[in-house]
Order: sequence, then C-alpha cells, then structure tokens
Amino acid sequence: MVKLKEKLNIAAVGDVHSPKFLREFKAALSRMNVKPDLFLMSGDMIYKGKVQYFKAVVNEILLQIGEVKIVSCFGNEEFENIRGTLRKLFPQITFLDDEYVVLSINDFKLGIVGTQGSLLKPTRWQARNIPRIAAIYRERISKVKNLLLEAKRRSDYVILLMHYAPSFKVMEGENRSVYHWLGHPGYERVILETRPNLVIYAHLHNANILEYRLDNVRLLNSSLPARGEILTVEVKAEKYGLLKFM
Ligand SMILES: [Fe+2]
Repeated sequence: MVKLKEKLNIAAVGDVHSPKFLREFKAALSRMNVKPDLFLMSGDMIYKGKVQYFKAVVNEILLQIGEVKIVSCFGNEEFENIRGTLRKLFPQITFLDDEYVVLSINDFKLGIVGTQGSLLKPTRWQARNIPRIAAIYRERISKVKNLLLEAKRRSDYVILLMHYAPSFKVMEGENRSVYHWLGHPGYERVILETRPNLVIYAHLHNANILEYRLDNVRLLNSSLPARGEILTVEVKAEKYGLLKFM
C-alpha cells in the first residue's frame, strides 16, 4: 500500500479561447491562493485554431504560478491540423489526445486520461468536413473506457480530463435544443463502469451546474466562462494510503 503524506493541489481550466477571455483568465489566475502541483487544461485554450495565442496562456501561467507540470486535452477549437504544431511548440506540456499518462507526484501515481470527448450529434460543420466523424465519436467512447481501465491498473488515482461534457445531466442552463452538440451521454456508462476518481470537463459556458455526482463520481465543469474562476481541487491522503478529494 502506498503511503501518502502530502496534499495535492490540482488546477484546471478550459474555454479560455485566447485571446477572447485572456483578460478574464489572467484575473482568475491572480485570484488563486494556492500554488497547484499540477495544472490541467481542458481544451479550447485558443480561439478557432489560432496557434499564436496559445503562448500567451502558457506565459501567463508561468508568470503567475511559476514552473508547474501542465497536462492538456484538446478542445474542438484546437483543430486536428494544429495539434502536431502545438505539441512541437510546447514540448513541456503533456498533450493527451485519446491517450493517458501516469505521473509520479508527491509520492503517488496519478493517472490522467485525456480526450476531446464526443458529441451525440456532430455539428453541421464537422459532418461536412470531418470524414466518419459520427463513427469516430461513437468509437471514442469505448477507446476512453479501455484507456481508463489501463490507467487505473497503473495508478493510485485516475482523472478523466475531457473537453466535451460527459453527460446531459450537467447541462442545465444551456439551450436544451443543442444538448446533442455539447457532449455525449454514452460516457456516463463508461464512468460508472470504470469509476475514475474525478472527471473534469469544459465546453459548457452557460451551465449553472459546476459540480455533479454521478453515483458518487465527481464531475466538475472547468469552463472559465461558466465558473469565472480556475477550478482548484485538493487531494488529501487518508490514513491507510487511500485517497480522498476534500
Ligand atoms: Fe468547446
């Protein structure tokens, strides 16, 4: 059994859409009162594929927080054709595009599965421009399930980091007629079957539910426009090496 003595602070944010909400992002960073051990980006950090605005986001984190490990999934605005460029330009960031990583932080192994997630129905633009997108979204659900199972075998704690919403249950406040363009409820079953310790998503700018428990699994909305703050979560070790988010 792993002995854990330290607290782990995790920060997460998505939908900065730099340069659109850069000012709000800077202000939110300045209000953070803990230095996180890990910074998660939950996608749509830039606006419509504008790679040149990613640097401003990273620089601001370095300026206000200092050196910190950054792990990121991609959002729909980090278009497929710029993802390779982002990986090359920011080798210090671990980008996860239907992948997982196991980090050793503060004496324990933290597994993170990162994905853009899926839409129940592709947007009109996606349907026109991305071949097989409906099938890709469906197939991604079982892919993510396998990644979660694998990450779980190798980690003490597992976070599912995704851009699109994992459930319709967290969408209250959004326009009901477009729920199918905001996420895919197929992830609910994956979450219930694999039970990650925490699920962090974004993309819902208007949702008034920032936290939801799906059979006791915490789902947290890290969308900057919805939350108005950087999401911070504190992990504490319990007596016998079991972990608990406080
Ligand atoms: Fe988005």
